[in-house]
Amino acid sequence: MISINSFEDYKKQYALSVQNPEQFWEDKANQFVWKKKWDKVLEWNFEEPDVKWFLGGKLNITENCLDRHLKERAHQTALIWEPNNPNEAVRKFTYKELHSEVCWFANVLKNNGAKKGDRICIYMPMVPELAIAVLACARIGAIHSVVFGGFSFNSLSDRIHDADCNLVITADGGFRGSKDIPLKSVVDEALKTCPTVKKVIVLERTKCNVTMLADRDVWWHDEIKKVSDKCEVEIMDAEDMLFILYTSGSTGKPKGVVHTCGGYMVYTAYTFENVFQYDATSLPLGGTKSGIFWCTADIGWITGHSYLVYGPLLAGATTLMFEGIPTYPDAGRFWKIIDKHSVNIFYTAPTAIRSLEAMGLDFVKPYKLNSLRVLGSVGEPINVEAWEWYYKNIGKENCPIVDTWWQTETGGIMISPIAGITVTKPGFATLPLPGVQPVLLDEHGNELLGNNVEGRLCMKFPWPGIIRTTYKNHARCKEAYFSTFKNYYFTGDGCRRDADGYYRITGRVDDVIKVSGHLLGTAEIENAINEHPDIVESAVVGFAHEIKGWGIYAYVIPDRERKDSDELKKEITATVNKFMGAIAKPDKIQIVSGLPKTRSGKIMRRILRKIAEGDINNLGDTSTLLDPAVVEEIVKGKV
Ligand code: WT7
Repeated sequence: MISINSFEDYKKQYALSVQNPEQFWEDKANQFVWKKKWDKVLEWNFEEPDVKWFLGGKLNITENCLDRHLKERAHQTALIWEPNNPNEAVRKFTYKELHSEVCWFANVLKNNGAKKGDRICIYMPMVPELAIAVLACARIGAIHSVVFGGFSFNSLSDRIHDADCNLVITADGGFRGSKDIPLKSVVDEALKTCPTVKKVIVLERTKCNVTMLADRDVWWHDEIKKVSDKCEVEIMDAEDMLFILYTSGSTGKPKGVVHTCGGYMVYTAYTFENVFQYDATSLPLGGTKSGIFWCTADIGWITGHSYLVYGPLLAGATTLMFEGIPTYPDAGRFWKIIDKHSVNIFYTAPTAIRSLEAMGLDFVKPYKLNSLRVLGSVGEPINVEAWEWYYKNIGKENCPIVDTWWQTETGGIMISPIAGITVTKPGFATLPLPGVQPVLLDEHGNELLGNNVEGRLCMKFPWPGIIRTTYKNHARCKEAYFSTFKNYYFTGDGCRRDADGYYRITGRVDDVIKVSGHLLGTAEIENAINEHPDIVESAVVGFAHEIKGWGIYAYVIPDRERKDSDELKKEITATVNKFMGAIAKPDKIQIVSGLPKTRSGKIMRRILRKIAEGDINNLGDTSTLLDPAVVEEIVKGKV
């Protein structure tokens, strides 16, 4: 239920959440169905780190997403699916229907040997069965690890390995724009190196040719026929794992971020309802605080987990899922869908806004967009120009924009306006939600007090959605988030707090870049480039890009026999595509004979970043370099 109805409420609750966090969160948790209530609300230290919420509580998140709503909203639409091809039929599921689908598939999982605690990899296109598969895992207590369908076999097999998955759920293929993506063959390739996987369940979507391995591969539609739609929920401890989701870090290997059942549930529901001001109790649907919610993110990312599936369903909302891309069949597709389904709340990414803005207003004009009530933005800083374009042309100056700052590791929104309540400022994520205690630190770890300060964004107190560990590697979790500054959670972002106490995220301060809203590790991209047999070494940095936010600039050293040529660059691009996926494709490749290194062999990325940005008059001190001449060569060859 919405608890913040005015700015006064916001201030009061913020104060309460700091004075007495246990009481604050206990109130929120009490709104759910628990098989057994918790014995203790919170235990924590950021040293280990060791954070536990609702200790001893027992629940199942799908009982709260589905069963709990059946009394009041069995016939309300839970999920609307809009296909890639606008001429294909829309699919809708009421809460009752979605409940049945999830139970059916949960039974399929059990029939195929899945049980509580197993890790199940989901590699699927954006079809309702993806959401159903996620929820079915949660229902039987299996830990889902969704891998974005744009990742290649190599990234997929790394993730399956890391989590020791024993089952994979996939589809023959997926439709995205004018492309058919062959998912099953990517799975086949990945599984050559994944002996732990015993079963693959395959959904038929594109009807492309696939090979089915006897004893391992089964069809979704065959398996469904063997089961009923009765499936009791598995009772989970509040701190049992709900899912693993991989995110890029500054080393080459992605981190398996772990979220747990109780805290994640409470946090996603609370943030969804309050930030977007969504109140399903104000039925009939269409009331001023309910309606159709559309989050454009893929379920392969945390935004899809928290605000396409779990948050909205926990709130009893109607959530819309779109299979395709914003520019197919043309750049008006988003706006067409908003009118077609009378979408009330629309949540998307700055990169999408910028690319649609660049296509011109002719794609917007044919649509009324008068159902919209709230607009959201997520994934990277939204520049003022894109913010204003969105506000004016999509929201018609009538819809508040919630610029929501958060991360895979935070589980849900942390710093954001409350729609219609917080006075917004373009480019600012504004204020922390009640329950969130951000601080800005200088490089020595001193808290910067007061306003008009800029530093590293950290959190000094836990919230229920916080990352618990990185899968099978707690040391990495500690190292990445809890070691830079002792007793703080470090976000990796730089941030400014202005004269009004409003927060503005300035961007990453580590070796990851946000490319079209996707977080990519530069080391991960370098590893993919280095898979090319003729490449000796590479260094990847980001450069400001008008549409994508950041673009990928790769400096590459080939072995002596290979000369700088378009052919070589094409091969490099193809290699990245193959080993990582198209999202990591370099925008610019510069062939070089050496890289600027310190005497200890460390690449001076600061210099490479400046060259990529064209800021060559200001390269700083290069005298400590092993071979300063190499810088000159690189500057001359800049692409
Ligand atoms: C990083 C987290 C948030 C879920 C999707 C991305 C950047 C995210 C904003 C925003 C400025 C933002 C940060 C953050 N970021 N939202 N509203 N304003 N920057 O999750 O892939 O884990 O990325 O995205 O740099 O650390 P993620």
